[in-house]
Amino acid sequence: MSAWLFAAWLALAPLVSGQDEPAPASNCATCHGKEARVFSESIHRVAGVTCITCHGGSPDSVDVAGAHGADLKSLRDPRAAVESCGGCHSDVERMRAFGLRTDQLSLYWTSGHGQQLAKGENADVATCVSCHSSHAVLSVKDPLSPAHPTKQVETCGGCHSDAQRMGKYGLPADQADEYRKSVHGRALLELGHRAAPACADCHGSHGALPPRVDQVEFVCGNCHSTVDGFFKQSPHAKRSGSPATIECVSCHDNHGVQKPSPQMFLGDDAGHCGACHADAADPARAVGQKLFDDVEQLAATIEAATLEVRTAGERGLFLGEERGYLDDARGLLVRARAMTHALSPALLDDVLERGKGMVAQTRDSLATKNRMFRDRRIFTGIFFGLALLFAVMLWMYGLEVRGRARQASAARGGGA
Ligand code: HEC
Ligand code: HEC
Ligand code: HEC
Ligand code: HEC
Ligand code: HEC
Ligand code: HEC
Ligand code: HEC
Ligand code: HEC
Ligand code: HEC
Repeated sequence: MSAWLFAAWLALAPLVSGQDEPAPASNCATCHGKEARVFSESIHRVAGVTCITCHGGSPDSVDVAGAHGADLKSLRDPRAAVESCGGCHSDVERMRAFGLRTDQLSLYWTSGHGQQLAKGENADVATCVSCHSSHAVLSVKDPLSPAHPTKQVETCGGCHSDAQRMGKYGLPADQADEYRKSVHGRALLELGHRAAPACADCHGSHGALPPRVDQVEFVCGNCHSTVDGFFKQSPHAKRSGSPATIECVSCHDNHGVQKPSPQMFLGDDAGHCGACHADAADPARAVGQKLFDDVEQLAATIEAATLEVRTAGERGLFLGEERGYLDDARGLLVRARAMTHALSPALLDDVLERGKGMVAQTRDSLATKNRMFRDRRIFTGIFFGLALLFAVMLWMYGLEVRGRARQASAARGGGA
């Protein structure tokens, strides 16, 4: 009887106690608890991938030799890892059910990383595991994934900020530091603006390469399409293909993009017009000066009108309409700044005129309201003046009536 119970317990125990173990390969977990724990959080566990799918071995044995079998794959070799992950991920049949792309492996071999790995064993470059981990693989949409946009600066920077490692390939090691200080890095990492680019948005993830000179503008233009459209009309862009062609990054830098200042039209620091057009007689300098003058003039009038509207608002005027006109003017100013990229002052005439028109309309409308406000004050003044006069007259009349009454009663009293 007790033997029977013991046998039943033996049969059921693994089911009961095995609930928290990575299901079919729990024999591996008996000795590899750490890997099993990490793996149990991964997206692969849900997808039915097991230790044995990646490493081989046998599920039926709990001794090393039996479990490992003859064909255990360690996958510590970077190429073996890439082939293992990439092999399954390029299986169209398998990936269709999950709606995943199947081009990671083929793109990887085209990347700087893959090309270097293909030349031989190279533990310096990124493999699938460097960017996704081996056992803790998460969805790339999970903020904890090392491939998530907010984590890329650490993941890519882990190697690319390592000067010793990068020195071997003649690469600088400043990209992550520069990026953290840039408008893009601050927007994404500090302000949480998801529209700002992370490393892989400019380089691609699996095909990570430096964009070739003729692709850089395309990379920036993906997001800054309005500016890109005007830039394409400029004399800087026309000679595409020639080594002298100017790109977005010639003026804005690539990793260290800063908030642009209008001073760039006048100065001679890196990226400023004067950096390349050093000769004061170069016609390009006059173009820069004219763009600066025209755009800043509109900016200054908008600013002055904004102040006037604010002051009037403080006196209690309702100025919704005027604020609307100023918003329109500001929109036109933004457009004008984008249009400067065409380097053609004449192109801006129309938008600047319309901007000034909106400011004039604001001022007209404000003047009308100010006039009405003044008229109302005068009217109210007159009204209260008259009312006061009337009250005084009433009071005096009252005095007079009372005085007469008193005189009359005194006369009557004297008579009695
Ligand atoms: C009885 C304990 C035991 C079991 C069960 C076991 N292993 Fe191991 N495993 C070890 C030990 C000990 C090592 C380290 C010694 C070595 O490198 O062979 C190891 C090493 C490994 C390595 C690294 C090999 C290398 O060369 O780096 C892998 C991969 C591995 N095991 C996978 C598995 C898988 C998959 C299973 C389940 C099918 C499994 N193990 C089951 C004990 C076990
Ligand atoms: C999706 C594929 C995949 C799965 C599933 C997987 N591994 Fe691995 N494992 C790898 C890769 C790739 C490496 C090499 C990691 C590296 O190079 O950093 C590795 C390395 C290892 C190592 C060697 C660790 C070391 O530090 O040397 C052990 C042990 C191991 N795995 C055990 C397991 C066990 C146990 C499971 C199941 C719980 C498991 N693996 C599931 C891909 C996988
Ligand atoms: C240099 C880092 C890096 C390497 C190396 C890398 N990945 Fe990725 N991976 C990413 C990033 C970043 C994403 C996020 C999506 C994107 O921007 O394309 C991603 C996305 C993915 C996705 C989600 C689906 C998709 O394509 O968008 C899968 C699956 C994937 N990678 C598998 C792999 C495999 C397999 C390998 C190896 C052949 C690999 N990755 C190598 C960084 C990398
Ligand atoms: C046996 C097939 C197989 C192997 C080997 C494999 N994967 Fe996967 N992987 C999958 C499947 C299936 C999914 C989809 C899981 C889901 O969406 O629920 C997946 C999902 C992923 C995702 C998440 C994609 C997303 O939705 O963002 C990444 C990243 C990934 N795998 C990377 C790797 C890496 C890195 C390796 C090697 C260490 C690897 N895979 C090995 C089958 C595999
Ligand atoms: C494991 C370390 C490692 C990680 C992680 C890594 N890289 Fe690399 N990367 C390298 C090495 C080493 C090279 C040099 C190989 C070569 O191009 O000759 C390189 C080359 C590159 C290049 C080509 C540079 C050139 O001019 O040849 C680009 C672009 C690049 N990586 C971008 C990225 C991005 C983006 C990420 C993150 C999504 C990333 N890397 C993650 C090690 C890494
Ligand atoms: C806004 C787009 C953008 C972002 C974001 C970006 N890069 Fe770049 N990166 C570029 C451009 C453009 C070049 C090519 C520069 C050139 O040709 O002058 C480049 C070049 C590189 C190179 C080649 C060596 C060099 O410095 O010229 C590496 C490596 C690199 N980037 C890594 C990274 C890493 C790592 C990150 C994230 C921390 C990152 N990049 C973020 C646009 C970007
Ligand atoms: C993935 C989309 C994306 C890509 C690619 C991109 N940017 Fe941006 N960029 C943004 C966003 C979003 C902002 C606004 C950030 C913020 O919230 O302040 C921005 C801001 C800027 C600004 C500052 C604008 C201002 O008024 O402060 C400049 C300059 C700029 N980017 C230039 C570039 C250049 C040059 C490249 C190519 C090397 C590039 N961007 C690539 C999305 C992108
Ligand atoms: C010849 C130098 C130069 C080149 C090339 C250049 N820019 Fe600019 N960019 C400027 C200057 C100067 C400003 C400041 C305009 C202002 O504040 O009036 C600016 C402003 C900007 C702004 C902020 C204004 C806005 O409209 O939001 C963005 C974004 C921007 N540039 C992106 C780009 C992109 C993308 C490219 C490539 C397609 C590019 N720039 C090429 C000089 C340049
Ligand atoms: C990184 C260097 C560089 C910067 C910065 C630069 N330019 Fe240029 N610019 C050039 C080169 C090189 C040419 C000659 C192109 C050609 O002749 O094909 C040129 C040509 C021009 C031309 C056409 C001149 C002609 O004779 O046809 C104008 C206009 C011009 N630039 C204006 C500007 C303005 C305005 C700025 C600042 C917003 C600026 N450039 C910033 C390098 C630069």
